[in-house]
Amino acid sequence: MVLIVVTGRGGAGKTTTVANLSTFLAMREYRVLAVDGDLYLPNLGFHFALDTVKYTLHSLLKNPDVDPEWAIYRHPQTGVYVLPGSTRLQDVLGISPKRLVRILDELKYKFGVVFVDSPTGIPFDTLPTFEIANYQLIVIEIERSPIYSFETMVENEIEKLKALGERYGLNIGVVLNKVRESEDVVEKIVETVEEDLGVPVIGWIPFDNRVPESINAGVPIVKYSPKSDAAIAFREAGEVLEGWIFG
Ligand SMILES: Nc1ncnc2c1ncn2[C@@H]1O[C@H](COP(=O)(O)OP(=O)(O)O)[C@@H](O)[C@H]1O
Ligand SMILES: [Mg+2]
Repeated sequence: MVLIVVTGRGGAGKTTTVANLSTFLAMREYRVLAVDGDLYLPNLGFHFALDTVKYTLHSLLKNPDVDPEWAIYRHPQTGVYVLPGSTRLQDVLGISPKRLVRILDELKYKFGVVFVDSPTGIPFDTLPTFEIANYQLIVIEIERSPIYSFETMVENEIEKLKALGERYGLNIGVVLNKVRESEDVVEKIVETVEEDLGVPVIGWIPFDNRVPESINAGVPIVKYSPKSDAAIAFREAGEVLEGWIFG
């Protein structure tokens, strides 16, 4: 099962979502791999304190002699298997993104669930990965959208990414993140997305200062601070996702 996590705008919380939904499912005993497919600005490694490792996804894209297993690290606190990217400029230049789809196609049989963190916007470099994916999760940051222009701004963002996922026959879901609005307002937003755009919202995550704190600690918030508002919301979204994927 391969899930690709995308977003229209940078900083919406794509990587945070990958880290926490991976953690949730790993804690439910699934064998989960989280892949940093954001090849030019990889940051998944930071969320798991795996930002200074020797072998990375970039090593695999550069050198076919590197065994993918060498670049997969089991995060001790959560049990998530992580395939981090390299943040070093010399590793990012001259890679072949085409090899990514072949690597994922082999790895997907070894894991129950594979999350792929994508570049911001339409992920042109990693588009071939959509061919082997089953689900697309669209992460939308609510906070920056004034409520009266919500429909045009967010619908537009969701519509484009939805069209992309549909083109590849993917199941599509939305995660609303960094929500500061009241519950009433959020319910309306969820309704708009589900009814007008026809995409299920698997959950909404409040803005929570413990999220950056957990990233600094290298442990996703679901595990780092299980009683925090964001952790509770990620767990609820994780349950919906689990039901959605595994019935
Ligand atoms: N629910 C949240 N509450 C507070 N801060 C958040 C939340 N989600 C993400 N962030 C912060 O926003 C920043 C961007 O998140 P990130 O997941 O890296 O976004 P993306 O991968 O979409 O660029 C990070 O510094 C993270 O700490
Ligand atoms: Mg990111």
